[in-house]
Amino acid sequence: MISVKGNSLFLGEIPAAELAGRFGTPVYAYDEETIRSKVRDLVQGIGYRPFRIFYAAKANTNLSILRLIREEGKGVVGIDAVSPGEIEVALKAGFKPVEIIFTSTSVTDEEMKFAILRKVLVNCDSLSQLERYGRLSPNSRVCFRVNPDVGAGHHGHVITGGPDSKFGIWAADVGKALDIAEKYNLAVVGIHEHIGSGILETEKFLTAMNVLLSIVEKNKARLQGLEFVDFGGGIGVPYRPDQKPIDFSRFGRAVSSLFEDFCGKFGRKLSLVIEPGRYLVAESGVLFCTVNTVKSTPKHRFVGVDTGFNHLIRPMAYGSYHPIVLVDNCNGSPREKVAVCGNICESGDVFTRNEEGIVDRELPVLKEGCVLAILVAGAYGFSMASTYNTRPRPPEVLVSGKNAKLIRKREDLKHVIYGM
Ligand code: LLP
Repeated sequence: MISVKGNSLFLGEIPAAELAGRFGTPVYAYDEETIRSKVRDLVQGIGYRPFRIFYAAKANTNLSILRLIREEGKGVVGIDAVSPGEIEVALKAGFKPVEIIFTSTSVTDEEMKFAILRKVLVNCDSLSQLERYGRLSPNSRVCFRVNPDVGAGHHGHVITGGPDSKFGIWAADVGKALDIAEKYNLAVVGIHEHIGSGILETEKFLTAMNVLLSIVEKNKARLQGLEFVDFGGGIGVPYRPDQKPIDFSRFGRAVSSLFEDFCGKFGRKLSLVIEPGRYLVAESGVLFCTVNTVKSTPKHRFVGVDTGFNHLIRPMAYGSYHPIVLVDNCNGSPREKVAVCGNICESGDVFTRNEEGIVDRELPVLKEGCVLAILVAGAYGFSMASTYNTRPRPPEVLVSGKNAKLIRKREDLKHVIYGM
């Protein structure tokens, strides 16, 4: 677990300062037990059976993390992959093709063929894709995604339901989707939706479930081969001190009973599927960095660190809040308000910001050499990292109790320069 003991941050039983010293900064570190406990939360929290989780690998595709999610969630957890690369890494992690769904958007025939060849179920995102899929793989199994006109999420960029969203087949066109499926003799085994990401108020999720289930109900006669309904991911985690985690036992009960009631009406038990990404990995991850600059303008005291939005883009992309702590003196004083900024040559490269701009954060007085931990960075951290400014991507470390192991090497500058 990640904890503060005697004013110092620990991952498992290892002081964060020791980890940063051993692996160097910047570095991503993940706590194995946190991920395992999140998998257990979900598997136990949703009582309905049969129940499947397709972990949205885009949140964190590190091979070692996929392996441990697979091990902890054996028999229940599979993978939601959005690219051939994610299919490949899921297979390498030991997931079987039947445990993977390819939830594609704007994909080529080649990408679909990649999935078809590997016997991975394709989740079609548009009528035209379904048509192309039918031509490529007639008489096969398929799933399609519906836009239920209900969206939710922590930022406009991640709301995926409603008329502004490019995703899914508009609910009114489901009949046309079924026509295409019939034309190519496709068995529609799954119906899918995903309304957005970072949802802490669960009402929208339940509303969208109801919408999708009423669509299934309405088209019951044409969905004789249906095996599962996939309600997507989106379960949020708290980032800000004032945010509360969702009440999982209540949410789990509501989801289960809604689905149970539906199956009663439908006349047979279908599998309930969800696709969490963030929920499983966000809180396990920390990005460590070292302060190398302290300077002031009349408005802000800037604390510069050896990482930037190339390694953690969420504050820059969505104005997202990430807790930041001084690893060896978390609650230290005196304190001052500072802007923690990165080493990328853009003014937006500030970790303490919202969408409008800089929001100073109160931290213990910092000086060059201090090691900081940017918390709740396990989801959409490394997986969205780039080599912008020709800076290599950081290494990744997995902590398990007293042990820490490198699960991805620091990227070599040669690789960035020559691409090999
Ligand atoms: N299923 C589908 C089809 C998705 O598109 C996504 C996320 C998920 C599941 C998992 O959503 P989650 O449970 O992680 O909320 N980069 C953004 C998040 C983008 C999410 C994209 N799709 C961020 O850092 O907040």
